[in-house]
Parts: sequence; C-alpha cells; structure tokens
Amino acid sequence: MAQQVKAVIARAKGAPVEVTTIVVPDPGPGEAVVKIQACGVCHTDLHYREGGINDEFPFLLGHEAAGVVESVGEGVTEVEPGDFVVLNWRAVCGQCRACRRGRAQYCFNTHNAKQKMTLLDGTELSPALGIGAFAEKTLVAAGQCTKVDPAVSPAVAGLLGCGVMAGIGAAINTGGVGRGDSVAVIGCGGVGGAAVMGSRLAGASKIIAVDIDDRKLETARRLGATHTVNSRSTDPVEAIRELTGGNGADVVVEAVGRPETYKQAFYARDLAGTVVLVGVPTPEMTLELPLLDVFGRGGALKSSWYGDCLPSRDFPMLIDLHLQGRLDLGAFVTETIELDAVEQAFERMHQGDVLRSVVVL
Ligand SMILES: NC(=O)c1ccc[n+]([C@@H]2O[C@H](COP(=O)([O-])OP(=O)(O)OC[C@H]3O[C@@H](n4cnc5c(N)ncnc54)[C@H](O)[C@@H]3O)[C@@H](O)[C@H]2O)c1
Ligand SMILES: [Zn+2]
Ligand SMILES: [Zn+2]
Repeated sequence: MAQQVKAVIARAKGAPVEVTTIVVPDPGPGEAVVKIQACGVCHTDLHYREGGINDEFPFLLGHEAAGVVESVGEGVTEVEPGDFVVLNWRAVCGQCRACRRGRAQYCFNTHNAKQKMTLLDGTELSPALGIGAFAEKTLVAAGQCTKVDPAVSPAVAGLLGCGVMAGIGAAINTGGVGRGDSVAVIGCGGVGGAAVMGSRLAGASKIIAVDIDDRKLETARRLGATHTVNSRSTDPVEAIRELTGGNGADVVVEAVGRPETYKQAFYARDLAGTVVLVGVPTPEMTLELPLLDVFGRGGALKSSWYGDCLPSRDFPMLIDLHLQGRLDLGAFVTETIELDAVEQAFERMHQGDVLRSVVVL
C-alpha cells in the first residue's frame, strides 16, 4: 500500500518551499523505502529551487540523508529492513562504459527508483539528485542505500551523502592530496570546509582557506586550515603564492562555482599543480583564459563530481574514522531544525550563518 507522508517541495521557480503531503509507493523490484532520520540542507537544494538545475518542477528537495530501511522490493539483496543507511546519488550500474573500464566513480547511468513519488493529485515529483529526503519517508533504488555503523548520529552520517563527501573527495580522490602537499581551498562552506578537513586527513602540510566571510575562515581553522585569507580584502592569488614560497599551492580546490574564483584557483596553483572544481556553476557562466597560460602552467584542471566517491568504499570508512575520533564530521552540523524550517535554513545559508542546517525527523 502506498503511504502518505509529509515532505518539503519546491513548487515553482523562486517560490518559497512548502511542507505538503506526498505519496510514496511501495518499493518495486530493486527499490527500497527509507524512513528518514536526518537530512542536511545543501546549496544544491537552493539551486533546484531557483531553477538553476532544470525546470522539472515540482521538486522533492533534500538529498544529504540518513535513515533506516523500512521495506525493500523484489530482488533486493544489498540491504534489508532495519538497516541504518546513508543515501547516495551514485548507485553505480556496473554496465556503462565507465563501469566497464573499472572507473565506477564516473558511472554514467546511476540507478534511481523507477516508480515516481507524487503529490496527492497524482502530479509526479522530481526528487533532488534522485533522492528527495526532506520527507518522513522516501523511495530510492536499493543501491542508493549504503549501510554504515549505526553508532553514528544520523545528523552527522547524512552529511556524507553529499556535501561533506564531495569536499573530502575533491581533495583526496580528485585532487590526490597527499602527505606534505600544499593545498588552497577557495570557498569554505560545507563543501570547502570538508575539503580542508580531507586535506588534513591526507597529511597536507599547508592548508590555506580562502573565503569572503571571516566566520567561515574561523571555522576553517577549526577544521584544519593552517592559514586563512579573506579574499574580500586581500588578493588571494598573491596571498597563496606568498604563503607557498612564491610558487602557488600543489592543489587548489574551488568550492564556490564562479568564473572569478575559478580564475583565482587557476593562477594560485604551482606550475604543474592541480585545480579541482567542485563548486557548481550556473548555465550562463563562461570563462576566458589565455590558452598559453593553460598550456604553459601545465598540470591538471579537473572537475569533481561528488568527490569521485564510491559510496560503498568511502562512506563506511569515513564513518569509522569519525567514530574513532580521527575525523570530526560533527563539526559540520551548525544546527538541527524541523522539516518546516527549510526555507529559513536557505536564508541562513545565504547569509553565511551556517555550515550545515540539518533537518532531524
Ligand atoms: N561537485 C559536487 O559534487 C557538489 C556536491 C555538493 C555541492 N556542490 C557545490 O559546491 C558549492 C558549495 O556548496 P556549499 O554547500 O559549501 O555552499 P555554501 O553556501 O555553504 O558555501 C559557499 C562558500 O563560498 C563562499 N564564497 C562565496 N563567494 C565567494 C568568493 N567570491 N570568494 C570566496 N568565497 C566565496 C561563501 O562565503 C561560503 O562560505 C555549491 O556550488 C554547491 O552546489 C558540488
Ligand atoms: Zn555505470
Ligand atoms: Zn548536495
């Protein structure tokens, strides 16, 4: 029997989000229904609401979630009812050309639930990143459920489902940060902050945090930054070069998603260094760079989708490190809120007041 649950949707471009009742079907073959315990508010949810991702309104928002599997459909073997899981948006297919080459982190055909969740009048919902977890329950593909140690708090675990994993992975997986490297992170919200923390975990010896907001820079210090630069008052390229013996950083992570910050990242890295773009630009943004500089500075210009993570490999490992006290994932939870406070959380995110607001159900 389909169930009716409360959820947060974005009905139209730019309109405030609203709590409404949605219909969650019983899981079909390969699907699971998950009772959501916590879901973080990510900048990407706001991008959806603003129409910056696509026009497929109404959206069922929320995608950084943890919860307990309630029921599974036919043929599901990876999880069972009662399992504590973090939801992921990379349920790899195993069949596409990326998967067949052993590069499943780039899977081009990731699984989502086949059935649709709907409004009471039958209107189909588009779940954010194929998840939709600002909801009491949601329907996903079983492969989107990654089992982790239930000793962790759901509010902390859920954050690995998107922003924190994206940031840690941008540094470690995409940027290949290793022991002794110098790293700069431009934009230190939830994602950039996680890139700072990931760089520390990987043994970077210099971690330079750049933001236009001093509060974010203070937090970045707590997360592991060794130096901070407020780029509202200081040229970040010069500052990063100065802090790295005149050379630039080995790896620069761009976690804002704007052409001007990308340019800063491009010029703030050492010759043959690596730029990682993890911030998500909007469709109208363009970038102009002297091609000779692209050639002459060498190195690698990479984009990071979801921190190039493999959920089944990375989520349990990072939760274990957290439970051992070696990775303070709790530092990202600024506040916990109710389901009806997502709109205010967007506002607080916009004002820069929070790293993560987390809806707890
Ligand atoms: N690639 C991925 O897989 C992935 C996953 C999740 C989020 N994202 C993207 O990452 C970006 C950051 O997400 P978030 O949740 O951390 O957002 P956020 O709003 O919490 O953080 C953005 C930070 O950038 C800072 N900032 C803004 N303009 C700046 C500038 N000109 N120079 C320096 N700093 C500046 C802000 O002060 C803030 O601290 C977004 O674009 C989001 O969509 C990407
Ligand atoms: Zn694939
Ligand atoms: Zn996200």
